[in-house]
Amino acid sequence: RVQSPPKDGTAVQERTDARDFYWGAATASYQIEGSPLADGAGASIWHDFAHRRGKIRNGDTGDTACDHYRRYRSDVREMQRLGLQAYRFSVAWPRIVPEPGTVNPRGLDFYSRLVDELLERGITPFCTLFHWDAPAWLERRGGFARRDSLEALCHYGRVLFEALGDRVKHWITINEPVVYAAYGYFFGLYAPGQRLRLRRMLAVSHHLLLGHARLVRILRQTVPDAAVGIAQHQVAGSPRDPGNPRDVRAAEFADQMINRFYLDPLYFGKYPPEILRRLRLFLPRDYERDLPEMREPGDFLALNYYQAQSYRHCPWVPIARARVVPTPGAQRNDLGWEVDPGGLYRMLCRLKEEYGNPTVYVTENGYPTVEEPERQCSPPHAGLDDRQRIAYLDAHIRAVASARREGSRTAGYFVWSLMDNFEWAEGYRARFGLLHVNFATQERTWRASARWYRERIQTGGPETGGPEAGASEAGTADGREAV
Ligand code: FCB
Repeated sequence: RVQSPPKDGTAVQERTDARDFYWGAATASYQIEGSPLADGAGASIWHDFAHRRGKIRNGDTGDTACDHYRRYRSDVREMQRLGLQAYRFSVAWPRIVPEPGTVNPRGLDFYSRLVDELLERGITPFCTLFHWDAPAWLERRGGFARRDSLEALCHYGRVLFEALGDRVKHWITINEPVVYAAYGYFFGLYAPGQRLRLRRMLAVSHHLLLGHARLVRILRQTVPDAAVGIAQHQVAGSPRDPGNPRDVRAAEFADQMINRFYLDPLYFGKYPPEILRRLRLFLPRDYERDLPEMREPGDFLALNYYQAQSYRHCPWVPIARARVVPTPGAQRNDLGWEVDPGGLYRMLCRLKEEYGNPTVYVTENGYPTVEEPERQCSPPHAGLDDRQRIAYLDAHIRAVASARREGSRTAGYFVWSLMDNFEWAEGYRARFGLLHVNFATQERTWRASARWYRERIQTGGPETGGPEAGASEAGTADGREAV
């Protein structure tokens, strides 16, 4: 059983609990916890990166973040008030393994208490092992660019599965390898901040995919009744001019680079054709030998979806020969990302048609508003009446409903995020929360979207429609038109 992933989903159902659909919200350790070095924790690459001058907007760091490390109890109470059925969080690896090969019981204890608190309040934990805050010691040894990083990852995984596996039955191995690799080793905008290291970026991606497959097998041995998947960031792309074959090729390459690179090895045991044609020489030597082992998607796909992009042929861009261009008429959020609920629908249908219709959890979907720091703390808080966020969430939930009607086995939806938090290089100015956080006082305040989401959950599954409040304001973000 360990060798062959279930094909029809029945075995998956056995390994998960009863709910047909989970309504949840998501966060990640470094973005919310604060106290990064408390109780024997080691530094993470994000801790180091955020403390380097000029790396994060306004010089923000995760030193305090939402102070969730100390306020987790009241945060879980808030989740219960919201009516969340599931909560996706991540574990800070350097809290658990502060030095190579060691285990820090005080770090484990925090997550153990968090899980107990969730279960007591009837909230199903979805636990991510690695959401980018790798231990600094690992990066000093070359990080995921090196193959031996997988021993460290598997050691960490085993420790966590053994400590929490009796209570946590939904696991996500790795969050968005594409973003970790591209932003960390090519664009240099995220930790560890390296630029234009194409070979390294591909090695990191390859090793993370292989690491995922190994973690799945370890989990199946240690916690046989748990379900596991990987969280993939997927962008809905299209050619700027569908009538222009060169734009079509540009969009196809972008799709293979961003999306299929991270799916095909897991589902089919191979890299996509254009990747091999253009990048084979940059992949780790002997990559082919790993492909049979990498063919292990797990029990579900965790899908993180935010945006669509259009591509145009561009001869000046090496290898990709493509660049991102605005889609005419597209609505954009404050960070400039194009809003397209139809893109989520298309992604879900494609997973159904081309990837064997896996169980899917939409483990991130959300809408940012940008509030400059001088406004951050001013009561009674700007941005509480967040109709645009409601419209966005509503439209994307409708896209999920449409895909389910077409037969997609989407089984959950998690809003990014439960509360405003440290949005990586953007610091605290980009706010995704259902709950507004005043970072000076740590006060949490419900936005209109939080009230809306609570009602939406109470209404029932994604097909049931949901309260009209806000939906009428949806405008171009209304999924019915877009889908
Ligand atoms: C995703 C990340 C998540 C959050 C959202 C906005 O790419 O996984 O941590 O920052 O973007």
